Amino acid sequence: MVTRMVDLRSDTVTKPTEAMRAAMVTAEVDDDVLGADPTAFQLESEVAKIMGKEAGLFVPSGTMGNLISVLVHCDIRGSEVILGDNSHIHIYENGGISTIGGVHPRPVKNNEDGTMDINLIEAAIRDPRGELVYPTTRLICLENSHANSGGRCLSVAYTDRVGELATKHGLKLHIDGARIFNASVALGVPVHRLVQAADSISVCLSKGLGAPVGSVIVGSKSFITKARRLRKTLGGGMRQVGFICAAAFVALQENVGKLEGDHKKAKVLAEGLNQIKGLRVDVAAVQTNIIYFDIVEGSKLTAEKLYKNLEEHGVLVMPEGPARMRIVLHHQISSSDVQYTLSCFQQALTGVQEENGN
Ligand SMILES: Cc1ncc(COP(=O)(O)O)c(C=O)c1O
Repeated sequence: MVTRMVDLRSDTVTKPTEAMRAAMVTAEVDDDVLGADPTAFQLESEVAKIMGKEAGLFVPSGTMGNLISVLVHCDIRGSEVILGDNSHIHIYENGGISTIGGVHPRPVKNNEDGTMDINLIEAAIRDPRGELVYPTTRLICLENSHANSGGRCLSVAYTDRVGELATKHGLKLHIDGARIFNASVALGVPVHRLVQAADSISVCLSKGLGAPVGSVIVGSKSFITKARRLRKTLGGGMRQVGFICAAAFVALQENVGKLEGDHKKAKVLAEGLNQIKGLRVDVAAVQTNIIYFDIVEGSKLTAEKLYKNLEEHGVLVMPEGPARMRIVLHHQISSSDVQYTLSCFQQALTGVQEENGN
């Protein structure tokens, strides 16, 4: 029987804290589709203020936040968006920008650190003189931190340069900031400065910050007015939504300060895993709360067997292929959980249990 559970599949698996539950019970609510929910308004205003933008809008998910943002910026048919070929929007959002929005994606190669080369972005911008045949480039999307690159962070300097490029060509810049607070904490840069060059950001509250539901998109007042209308079109207008906004507000107040600890634990875990025979981790690539690692050839176990073995001991990770796995830290993982996880890996791969599983 499993006596201990350490869920490292994602930072989306957190359960609401007592403070979040209490806030939900007492939240003051009203009909948000009529624009009257005070708790939703409070959360939206606070996130907008923190991000240094004029206004915010609560949406049910990061996927909807990105979709609405892209569609607002690309509201003319035949628009094209430049985005990373390894970005969440391009890979994991059902191609919604095309299927729902009629927006054409122009993927540019993501480097291992989550950036796209500036010269490649510039080369991907369509020449307006070719308008008879080309789609019209209207938007560039970045992702910070970059999930598929192992949670690596895009610097302020890089983001500013992409912003300058966008301005030079009359384009908008959107940031998928599902984990923008992780990036800000890891870089030691205030989050409003990190996103200064962006016209819009989608900020997830249900990832590293641990809220049960929701994201907030931020931008100019006119951007948010259009976004609100699109949210209704997509069925994302919710009535007494203040109940979930109240929990998200607690997440914002209480959990940004815990991200640094998550990053430190990720580093400890990555270093420990890298010392176990049969595993390989690029420890230097672990900048925030995400760890990707490989099972080396000739190892005792395949990824599938290792996954099952860990599961039997209550350690849940995310398989990412025949020999690759992902772990994500979050505020409900303690240092002792990290040590227990290492001892489970150690035992599965070498048959030796270390004395660190308390
Ligand atoms: C980088 C990134 N963007 C967007 C999303 C989408 O968020 P949601 O699952 O809330 O739709 C995710 C989800 O994990 C993500 O990792």
